[in-house]
Amino acid sequence: MAPTAKSRTASKPDSLREAGSALTAWYAGRARDLPWRRNVSPYRVLVSEIMLQQTRTETVASRFEQFMERFPDPETLASAPEDEVLKLWEGLGYYSRARNLHKAAKVIAEQFGGQMPADHQQLLSLPGVGEYTAAAVETIAFGRPAVALDANAVRIALRLEGAELEAVSKAGRALARSRLEAMLTLDQPDVFTQAVMELGQTVCRPRRAECSVCPLRPWCAGQADPLRYPAARQEKAKPVTVLTVAALFTPDMAALRRRPDGGLLAGLYEPLNWAGELTQADLLGRLEGLGIEVNDAVRLRPWRHEFTHRVWQLTGWRIAVREPKRLQDIVWADRDMLGQRCAVPTAFRPAIAEWECTPWKTLWSRDPFSGIT
Ligand code: ADE
Repeated sequence: MAPTAKSRTASKPDSLREAGSALTAWYAGRARDLPWRRNVSPYRVLVSEIMLQQTRTETVASRFEQFMERFPDPETLASAPEDEVLKLWEGLGYYSRARNLHKAAKVIAEQFGGQMPADHQQLLSLPGVGEYTAAAVETIAFGRPAVALDANAVRIALRLEGAELEAVSKAGRALARSRLEAMLTLDQPDVFTQAVMELGQTVCRPRRAECSVCPLRPWCAGQADPLRYPAARQEKAKPVTVLTVAALFTPDMAALRRRPDGGLLAGLYEPLNWAGELTQADLLGRLEGLGIEVNDAVRLRPWRHEFTHRVWQLTGWRIAVREPKRLQDIVWADRDMLGQRCAVPTAFRPAIAEWECTPWKTLWSRDPFSGIT
């Protein structure tokens, strides 16, 4: 019989093993049907785990197969141009993951004969693969017992223990690891790992815990007040950057600039933009300085984009021009190019979406530069 939550202590590893078994049994009956859970292979697990690191499950679920269709194995991914890899990553965010995955595919192709390594150290040698991802691949793809310690796993373990430690603290992570090791079902480590993720996303959620339906309830010391665990962190205010965008369009082309190879959103394409909030006159002056003849300029409603560690506050103009003026660093992309090659960060999408709102027919029936609205 399952013990009561109060009677379970850390000194009873058998009891925790029972909790692990209850969790895997629960998962067997109600796991969500997610694309990477069908046709499990080490490469599919690697790709999905990298995608899932900072992107919501629903978003990844809607994009995973498209990526796998284009890059079905490490060798195909390794030989693809980076722009194309970034394009297929568009909307998933945190693009350094895509660049690292691309590099990892090259290592797999060149050093491991195109086969995913199974060894822990070899997995860790792949760019972008840390302890969590290596452990997830080892358990889910190779069926080896390892604890994949992500935020879900730490939260579940600390609630189970009723431990008011911060999830990112060394002590919190160490405690969580030891409890999950004790729970890990040795006959089904792959199922156990997925079950922890499932529970963390559907039942034992960060801001809402559905304890009444939790399979770990008989063992959980935190159920009276689950949101107390893990201990809350002091949130630091995110620095805010203000940008002014000039989204330049002809009827057939959009002006884009490739961001530098290093740093935030490296290698992605963006409309022209400047730091700070420019006045109309400033902006038009800058465009004139570049020799760009503006036919129409419409002010866009300001918008915000939040990254993990910073916030962008954007304002801007939709600018209609007749001719795609050749300029250093500017690529004039047609719709095919934008659709297939140039990945535009989500932060700039509202400006690019304006392309389809430009009333070309009305505009061109007027004199050039009829004014600014
Ligand atoms: N989050 C991280 N890995 C996951 C997985 N394999 N399934 C569902 N959510 C996840």
